[in-house]
Amino acid sequence: MTDDPGRVVARSDEIADGEMLDVRVEGLDIALYRVGGRLYATAGICTHGRAMLTDGWLEDGVIECPLHGGRFEVRDGSCLGPPVDEPLTTYPVTEHDGEIRVTTRTEAQP
Ligand code: FES
Repeated sequence: MTDDPGRVVARSDEIADGEMLDVRVEGLDIALYRVGGRLYATAGICTHGRAMLTDGWLEDGVIECPLHGGRFEVRDGSCLGPPVDEPLTTYPVTEHDGEIRVTTRTEAQP
């Protein structure tokens, strides 16, 4: 169970450095981000309302929600002040042989 390799959600060439991509995994909206060459995955919907975070702005590893400007750190999902006060769920993401995989089972996280 802890060796769950995750689901293939995208190809590596679909997300360049500094970009983001929304994917749907097992019924969940998930946002992928590539920052400094590394991939991160968080819930794709803002914790403050029904806004798709990938419609917002990504800068220096911080995603800004398009609706009310809430900001989150994509590395750990933490929120950076009002109006958001609930962090984003994060998911393990791996990249191998041109495939990006995300694990949505929380028990697989360290
Ligand atoms: S919906 Fe994202 S900050 Fe309000």
